[in-house]
Amino acid sequence: MPDASPPAASCGTGSAKPINVRKALLTDVTSLVGLINDFAAQGIMLPRTEFELAENIRDFTVAVIDGELAGCGALHFYGPHTGEIRSLAVRPDCQHLGIGRSIMEALEAEAQAHGLRSVFAFTYIPNFFARLGYREVDRRLLPAKVWKDCLRCPKLQCCDEIAVQKVFQENGGAILINGDEIPATEPVILPIVGKK
Ligand SMILES: CC(C)(COP(=O)(O)OP(=O)(O)OC[C@H]1O[C@@H](n2cnc3c(N)ncnc32)[C@H](O)[C@@H]1OP(=O)(O)O)[C@@H](O)C(=O)NCCC(=O)NCCS
Repeated sequence: MPDASPPAASCGTGSAKPINVRKALLTDVTSLVGLINDFAAQGIMLPRTEFELAENIRDFTVAVIDGELAGCGALHFYGPHTGEIRSLAVRPDCQHLGIGRSIMEALEAEAQAHGLRSVFAFTYIPNFFARLGYREVDRRLLPAKVWKDCLRCPKLQCCDEIAVQKVFQENGGAILINGDEIPATEPVILPIVGKK
């Protein structure tokens, strides 16, 4: 599969073209690196190496138009009850065609098929997630995420991403975003600063 960014053929007429949303394959890795790292260069996504993507390729869902990668997203598990939606990206010339929504719906269906109670994400565009039913949550209630990924992030001490969550199964007022039920009144305080 050719590198998806920048694309030779535009998605411009792609609204009429079929969008194939499927689980990623190892053969998608090169295209995924190109797509994600183009956005990473703009500081809006974490960069990923080929090795990391190959290691986590089973997390990924891709959208393909005309045989070319148009978008991607990943579902990463954090224990049996929750997972993170991450590495969501749609090629610039393919945006606003519903591809991001389609990828999100596929990832959420996957999460529910695995019995997850909720999914969360860290984002600069909470309004996109709000349209899909996510609500903002206190990032301090996501310790697993912080300790696994955030510690190697250059923005650890000045993180400006917003934590959002979608709950599939409500459960008695407990926060379900990080494994077993965490009382909302007992946030885990982490050594990060920034809003929320
Ligand atoms: C965010 C992104 C994935 C959206 O993909 P997309 O294919 O353009 O989104 P869709 O066309 O499926 O849009 C779905 C809905 O979200 C809205 N939307 C799209 N981009 C949005 C944005 N940046 N902010 C707020 N809402 C947005 C659309 O208007 C649409 O709403 P509607 O269905 O109610 O009309 C894409 O803009 C992107 O790759 N951005 C750069 C990378 C990035 O920021 N990733 C997110 C990391 S958390």
